[in-house]
Amino acid sequence: MTDLIRKPADNDHPIHDLLRERWSPRAFADRPVTDEQLLSLFEAARWSQSCFNDQPWFFILATQAQPDSYAKLLSCLTDSNQTWAKRAPVLMLMIARLTFEADGSPNHHALYDLGQAMQNLTVQATSMELVIRQMAGIHPDHAQTIYQIPDGYRVLAGAALGYQGTIDILSEKHQQREVLPRERKPLSAFVFSDRFGETAPFIAE
Ligand SMILES: Cc1cc2nc3c(=O)[nH]c(=O)nc-3n(C[C@H](O)[C@H](O)[C@H](O)COP(=O)(O)O)c2cc1C
Repeated sequence: MTDLIRKPADNDHPIHDLLRERWSPRAFADRPVTDEQLLSLFEAARWSQSCFNDQPWFFILATQAQPDSYAKLLSCLTDSNQTWAKRAPVLMLMIARLTFEADGSPNHHALYDLGQAMQNLTVQATSMELVIRQMAGIHPDHAQTIYQIPDGYRVLAGAALGYQGTIDILSEKHQQREVLPRERKPLSAFVFSDRFGETAPFIAE
């Protein structure tokens, strides 16, 4: 059997193993995610912080156990993402409410908060040996229509979730991409002090 690919961060400074080991595989094993696991994942998202504790995050999910629901969610993904995501046992859409629940005023941090909730979910998933690959490649207008999502809510992204699989199930193109190294900009490119663009002095050259 082909081994599962590990792509731990080539980190310059120590970080938690959960952050180091997380990556976004396209290959999913034919193994279901249980309802108990899903409850823990959304519980992790639930306890994320948010501006005014507005909790403007919403998720729509479908599992392979419900083929009609699964096909409906799959139709919200671009063709290119469908080619690999169709094997994930769980598909999700992430949605933000763009106004505060309390008074209807614009919530300029709704997208920020949705992202944080998703990261909570992702870290929890990693701790449970589940993997997630998120997708900007979705059809948000189609999703808005078929799920009857009201105005004032925005469908931001999709995600595929499950246990990692072996890459032999992927197309040649995706097999090649799956083994590419994970790369990141250095801290000096994005941690500043005194002036935007001026690297903070504690970061060694
Ligand atoms: C908001 C968001 C949108 C993404 N969109 C796609 C996508 O449409 N298709 C895809 O294959 N990967 C997508 N990705 C995965 C990224 O390409 C991946 O996270 C990035 O290359 C870093 O790799 P890593 O997660 O393995 O560290 C997306 C990730 C995020 C967070």
